[in-house]
Amino acid sequence: MVNDTALETLYKTVDQNQDDYVERLREAVAIPRYEARDIGCHDMDGVNLQLPPIILGTYGNDPNKKTILVYGHYDVQPALLEDGWDSKPFDMIETPKGQLVGRGASDDKGPIIGWLNCIEAHQNADIEFPVNLKICFEGMEENGSEGLEELISKEADKYFKDVDAVCISDNYWLGMTKPCLTYGLRGICAYKVAISGPGKDLHSGVFGGTVHEPMTDLIHLFSKLVTPSGKILITGVNDDVALLTDAENQMYKSLEFSLSELHSAIESKTTIFDNEIETLQHRWRYPSLTLHGIEGAFSSPGFKTVLPAKVTGKFSIRLVPNMDPNRVNELVEKYLKDEFAKLGSKNTISVECLHGAKPWIANPNHWNYVAASNAVERIFKCKPDLTREGGSIPVTLTFQDALNKNVLLLPMGRGDDGAHSINEKLDRSNYVQGIKLFGAYLHEIASCKDE
Ligand code: BES
Ligand code: MN
Ligand code: MN
Repeated sequence: MVNDTALETLYKTVDQNQDDYVERLREAVAIPRYEARDIGCHDMDGVNLQLPPIILGTYGNDPNKKTILVYGHYDVQPALLEDGWDSKPFDMIETPKGQLVGRGASDDKGPIIGWLNCIEAHQNADIEFPVNLKICFEGMEENGSEGLEELISKEADKYFKDVDAVCISDNYWLGMTKPCLTYGLRGICAYKVAISGPGKDLHSGVFGGTVHEPMTDLIHLFSKLVTPSGKILITGVNDDVALLTDAENQMYKSLEFSLSELHSAIESKTTIFDNEIETLQHRWRYPSLTLHGIEGAFSSPGFKTVLPAKVTGKFSIRLVPNMDPNRVNELVEKYLKDEFAKLGSKNTISVECLHGAKPWIANPNHWNYVAASNAVERIFKCKPDLTREGGSIPVTLTFQDALNKNVLLLPMGRGDDGAHSINEKLDRSNYVQGIKLFGAYLHEIASCKDE
């Protein structure tokens, strides 16, 4: 049985110490990236090979307690004031509405600092920690978690040996008011397509009309990847998408999600579908293809009559069950090369897959989810929605497969936090309630009977 009095004491301690927790988050936000000490290790492109450290920590090793592994990432997306932020991205501010604004506040520093605060709150309140905790915090998540997969496989029978279940807080509520638990994510394949022609940038007046232009080739190719309404045109890519069953279709009707909330989160009404269900389905259970940018293209303000010699287009495809990254790679390479051949250009093309991650689905009936659901009811007085998401966290599936344990996504932030965007924020209330939620979840884990 959960000790309700102990939990009430814990909540009070969290409330009383919340200003310290906010300061702690401010300090974390102020570190834009991990700076590796250069030890002179470079790969062939001269890129420093040293990866940021993976932080492993163990708190408690009582054989009578369950062991929960919490994962999070301390790396963040780049951010510049010039991108359009209203305040300096790495100087966290608190708005009058109680929003903690700063890069990484929600993705994913709030949650990882939240776990540490949760431990400290138990100490300050003098409450026994209900589980053994294993921590795994990494600094390469936003770059495909390079290096982590190997570590997990290597340590599966060592450091991770006694783990009973995994909890990841690196996602968001569907909307602004109702908590959720997330049991699925899309995978991702990220690509670079380089087109090269002349040995150097040229004057477009002198050479325009007489040489094959890399940028023209690339734009033609890009236009053949996806339609403006989101349909992927690459031959075969949609073939492995799992069929929508009646039961799955029914499930969408019960979710609390509104297009108008989504419109306010994205500050526009430019959604492709005019209803909630199709919008969620295309976010969660259908693939998508996004064009991200073009390296080497002239993108500064002003006008320069230049003919770029080499351009590198970047795009990614989000994968869903039952798509496989290797199969998608084959299809993408073949399609791009076939389409390029049709252009009759004398330029050269190269296609590179930067990282691939499979989609992930977990069993939401597992005791890990039951404990989290009970914890949500304790803190928010409502049952959480069960959701999937469109983003990707490569290690969810790695943990699930390598440790053979259930993985749960337990969000701290809201749907409008603006991860990867300008003015990323975490509401103070989500931060504080989130720390209580983490605590309640661990206490619920300790008291659940079914294995
Ligand atoms: N926290 C996100 C993943 C996420 C996004 C979960 C939306 C739920 C909803 C994570 O930090 C992220 O941005 N992941 C990258 C991974 C990629 C670089 C391999 C992503 O999804 O683009
Ligand atoms: Mn994240
Ligand atoms: Mn992210």
